[in-house]
Amino acid sequence: MADVSRRLFVKGAALGAATLSTAGILAACASEAKPAAEEPKADAEPQTQAPAADVLTPTKAPSADTASNFEAMPDSITTVGTTYENLLAAIEGETGATAKYTAYAEAADKEGFDQIARLFRCTADAEKIHIELEYNLAKEIDPATEKPEPPTIEPHGSGVNLISGANGEIYETSDMYPSFIKKAQEEDNQKAVQVFTRAKLAEAYHAERYLDAYNTIDTPSDDTYYLCPICGYIHKGENFTACPICLAPKESFTAY
Ligand SMILES: [Fe+2]
Ligand SMILES: [Fe+2]
Repeated sequence: MADVSRRLFVKGAALGAATLSTAGILAACASEAKPAAEEPKADAEPQTQAPAADVLTPTKAPSADTASNFEAMPDSITTVGTTYENLLAAIEGETGATAKYTAYAEAADKEGFDQIARLFRCTADAEKIHIELEYNLAKEIDPATEKPEPPTIEPHGSGVNLISGANGEIYETSDMYPSFIKKAQEEDNQKAVQVFTRAKLAEAYHAERYLDAYNTIDTPSDDTYYLCPICGYIHKGENFTACPICLAPKESFTAY
């Protein structure tokens, strides 16, 4: 009950903050609507100081036991089996994602979308990390486990490919992995809980990166993408010190 009360309190606080921030936006709009009181002087000193960027400096890794975003969708479309069967299903899903993103990277190259091509390659490599984690665990349960063949993928235009990628990532982070984590918790398979948890958390960031690339498709930056070699988290740009999922340091990341 204490946990539920805490969540209600946090939700109430968030609602209050949202109301305040709406009021703030309205105030900002109202001030924008007023005519400028003073035109900037032509000989004014140019502003040279860039605003300081926020730097991501995580100190605590999220846990499936306490985090508030591990509930599977109420209308779940995931078929849940034993944890071993779920590992096989996850490996198959990640293998399909890897094949998709590799084909989508080639399509982006052909269209001249360098940033999108780099993001798809980086994310394909992230899914390979998940495959290895899941495959190693499946082999501990049954040493005869084999990897599936990747499917053949027909890419579309990069805009559609990004949305297709984001849709898959959102399904995995909000439905497939939470369902598999719950089953692994029921079976008290802590290794599987950790492997699925890291993948679940990384997929949400993958979806975020895809939507960011979609929204900036015609105004891309040349920011570098960084891949965490432990969990598959992807960061865009330089402003971080460590992985927010597994706390691996920036120095260990691979650049794309
Ligand atoms: Fe992903
Ligand atoms: Fe990580």
